[in-house]
Amino acid sequence: MKNIADKFLPFDLGNEADYQAWRERKLLAYPTRIEELIVEIKNPQQLTSAEFEALHERCRKTNMVIYAGPTGSDPDKAIPKSLGRQFGLTELDCNMGADDDGVTSLKVVEGKWRSGYIPYTNRPIHWHTDGYYNLPERQIHGLQLHCVSAAASGGENALLDHEIAYIHLRDSNPEYIRALMAANVMTIPPNNENGEQLRPARSGPVFSVLEDGRLHMRYTARTRSIEWLQDPVTLAAVKALNDFLDSSSHYIYRATLQPGQGLISNNVLHDRSGFDDDDEYTRQLYRLRYYQRIADT
Ligand SMILES: [Fe+2]
Repeated sequence: MKNIADKFLPFDLGNEADYQAWRERKLLAYPTRIEELIVEIKNPQQLTSAEFEALHERCRKTNMVIYAGPTGSDPDKAIPKSLGRQFGLTELDCNMGADDDGVTSLKVVEGKWRSGYIPYTNRPIHWHTDGYYNLPERQIHGLQLHCVSAAASGGENALLDHEIAYIHLRDSNPEYIRALMAANVMTIPPNNENGEQLRPARSGPVFSVLEDGRLHMRYTARTRSIEWLQDPVTLAAVKALNDFLDSSSHYIYRATLQPGQGLISNNVLHDRSGFDDDDEYTRQLYRLRYYQRIADT
C-alpha cells in the first residue's frame, strides 16, 4: 500500500504525473456491472481465506463489495459485526439512532423522534456519504449495510466509488477539485429541535486527503439543510457532481439488497430509492458506521 511516506501523491493537484499513473491503474479493468461486485459466502462469521480474498480484492479496486450469505432474515447483529471485524472494522460510531452496540436498525418507524429523519421512513434518500455532518475527528470511513428483510417493492441503493467521482471531476476541470477541497466549501446548519441545539453548524471540505494518503469524501445532494460556498467555481463543481450522480454512467451500480446480503465499503457515495412495505415484507437493514477504512485498501 502506498502512503504519504512513499511520496506518491495522486490527489495533489500539483502532481499530474502521480495522478495520471494512479488514474490509469484505477480504471484498468474497473468493474462496470454490479454482478462483478457480488461475492457468495458460506459463513459470514468465519470467511474462508478464498472468500476473504475475493471480497477484499473488490474493496481494493472499487472501495466496496456486496456479499451474499446464507443467513436470510436472521436478525443476529453478530453477523455484520463479525464480518466487519474480519476487515479491520471495529470502531463503531454510536450515533443518535444506533442501539447501544453501535448498530443502527433502519426500518420504518412511526411516531417517535425518528420519523423526522428520512432513514426511518420509506422516502427516497438523495446521494450522500454517511456522517458528512460529523466532527472532523469523527468522520466515517467505513460503512456496512446488512439486509435482514427486504421491502415489498423498492429500496434500491445506487452506489458510486468516491474515487471515480474524484476522477470525473478532476478530468472535467481540476479547479472543481480545488474548490471542493476548500475547508469551508460545505456548511451544515445547526440541528435544532424544540429550541435545543443538538449540533452546531459545521463546515468542511468535500474531498480531503487522509494522513495515509487516502481520499475521503463528505457529501450530500440535499439542497435543504446544506449551504455551499457561493462562488461560481464551487457552484459549477457541485452541479458537475450532481449531473454525474444523476447520469446513467456505467460506474454507478444499483442493487436491492436481499436478506443475508450486505455491503462493505469505504463509505462510498450512495442513495436509496423509496420503498413500500406490506404485511409480509417489511424492510429492515442494519447500518454500521466506522471511524476506520477497510484494512489494507
Ligand atoms: Fe447512508
